[in-house]
Amino acid sequence: MLKTIGAQIKEYRAASIATPLFMILEVLMETVIPLLMASIVDKGIAEGNIGHVYRVGAVMLVCAFIGLLGGLLGARYGAKASTGLAKNLREAMFTNIQRFSFANIDKFSTAGLITRMTTDVTNVQNAYQMILRMCFRAPVSLICAMAMAFFINARLASIYLVAMMILGVILSVIISRAMRYFSEVFKKYDDLNASVQENISAIRVVKAYVREDYENQKFTKASQNLYKMFLKAEGIVAWNGPVMMTTIYTCILLISWVGAHMIIAGSLTTGELMSLMTYCITILMNLMFLSMIFVMVSMSMAAARRISEVINEEPSIENPADPVMEVKDGSIDFDHVYFAYKEGGADVLTDINLHIRSGETIGIIGGTGTGKTSLVNLISRLYDVREGTVSVGGVDVRRYDMEELRNQVSVVLQKNVLFSGTILDNLRWGDEHATEEACREACRLACADEFIEQMPEGYHTYIEQGGTNVSGGQKQRLCIARALLKKPKVLILDDSTSAVDTATDAKIRDAFARYIPATTKLIIAQRISSVEHADRILVLDDGKINGFGTHEELLENNRIYREVYDSQNQGGGDFDQHQNGGER
Ligand SMILES: Nc1ncnc2c1ncn2[C@@H]1O[C@H](COP(=O)(O)OP(=O)(O)O)[C@@H](O)[C@H]1O
Ligand SMILES: [Mg+2]
Repeated sequence: MLKTIGAQIKEYRAASIATPLFMILEVLMETVIPLLMASIVDKGIAEGNIGHVYRVGAVMLVCAFIGLLGGLLGARYGAKASTGLAKNLREAMFTNIQRFSFANIDKFSTAGLITRMTTDVTNVQNAYQMILRMCFRAPVSLICAMAMAFFINARLASIYLVAMMILGVILSVIISRAMRYFSEVFKKYDDLNASVQENISAIRVVKAYVREDYENQKFTKASQNLYKMFLKAEGIVAWNGPVMMTTIYTCILLISWVGAHMIIAGSLTTGELMSLMTYCITILMNLMFLSMIFVMVSMSMAAARRISEVINEEPSIENPADPVMEVKDGSIDFDHVYFAYKEGGADVLTDINLHIRSGETIGIIGGTGTGKTSLVNLISRLYDVREGTVSVGGVDVRRYDMEELRNQVSVVLQKNVLFSGTILDNLRWGDEHATEEACREACRLACADEFIEQMPEGYHTYIEQGGTNVSGGQKQRLCIARALLKKPKVLILDDSTSAVDTATDAKIRDAFARYIPATTKLIIAQRISSVEHADRILVLDDGKINGFGTHEELLENNRIYREVYDSQNQGGGDFDQHQNGGER
């Protein structure tokens, strides 16, 4: 895990090394200054030697300046290295996510991926900056100050040693208790992020169902929980300050008392006592820094682990070693295909045998959840089969170059999206070199030309993110046009005309038949009228083929089909009422 994260430091290695070096420079200067101070007090002020004060004062000024410079450069390079690491982590995750198959995305969920790319990266970035700046500085500073204290007066310095041990014990108790709450906090953060992500991305549905109050309550509860946890954790951490201060003041009192006796006895000078006090504060402060670094680093460990999971995730679907580069024709064959979304999970499709000739138009019909979408997703290899084979053009889809396969098998997904950009930009997702004329032609076929031409800026109209400024039916038609631009050998419409009126639906089908006769067309629909003119119709029920034939054949001998046909002809019939129909 640390190797994965470390590998992303890349071009920021120099900055990562420079940071601790500059910080150590700062520490060294900080250590020398109290010693110079002692010299000014003892040799300069006490002996009335003003020349000494000037000379040592000048050296002190130079040291202070160097220390300041070290601190400044350390902070600068620390920021450069940590923000650079964050940038590289995000890029590495994003690049790998682009390689993910649908199955990989299912595993992490969209909300999870977003949290990992934002909150988690920020945590690691902060921790890394802290490590670079403090991890070396604090121990070095601690040791230097300790050494100096012992050098000045070993007897007094041993007081620090005792204080340090006591403080160390108390701090570790506080930290270990706080850590328990903090790890809870981070789990709660995930929940909160998930609920925000879900709510915001589905805000239209929330509004449509007037669920704002419910969502508000849900969110308030999650947010309250987080607040309580944080309060508990911070409440414990808050003890750090008072404990720290009590220790420092006790030490100073002790040293003043013992030191005063020593000064009277002549075994210690005033200047030395002064520097000892400065070192006391340095030592204990650094101890506290160390404990804080510990908290921060252990909290960011979980984030680092989650980031490296994304970077190291192997795409579950990859190009074969020696890929077939050409799809010969649009014939499709399913041979004893079984499919499940999760390994060991229940089969969504069982024993599918299906042979479709190139250029055929196939209607697919069945209630929701019967596996229609799953079935067609196997053709463009959005998922891999569990058992059996799916072939296009007579070749197993797993042997094709994926880009070639997906260019030839064009899917208008059920949950389709448009991207922000003009209508032409969106259409050119299908073929980036398409001329405007070709785009217009595709829109004519998809019956999208009428409404586009009525828009004020026609084909240059800007589509908002997620296509919110076009209606559902318009969006569907744009998506069909986009898929047509690929000039695919297989075109799959997954319930893509559900929001289009029946007359337009018929016009689109008619255009397909005339302009792309050689393309195999698979049309998933809820309405019998959308599929009845197809060459053959597939009836799916509970992941199995229930019937496959022409409209007349199915009317004759398929009970589900006949019942749906009858109810739809009587008006208002819906496929789902019959999804458990079957041939009983
Ligand atoms: N990404 C997914 N992960 C797990 N299960 C899924 C996923 N998509 C669909 N399913 C399940 O697979 C079954 C078939 O779904 P689907 O093929 O989408 O049906 P249809 O398109 O006919 O409505 C359903 O039981 C559904 O819950
Ligand atoms: Mg579906």
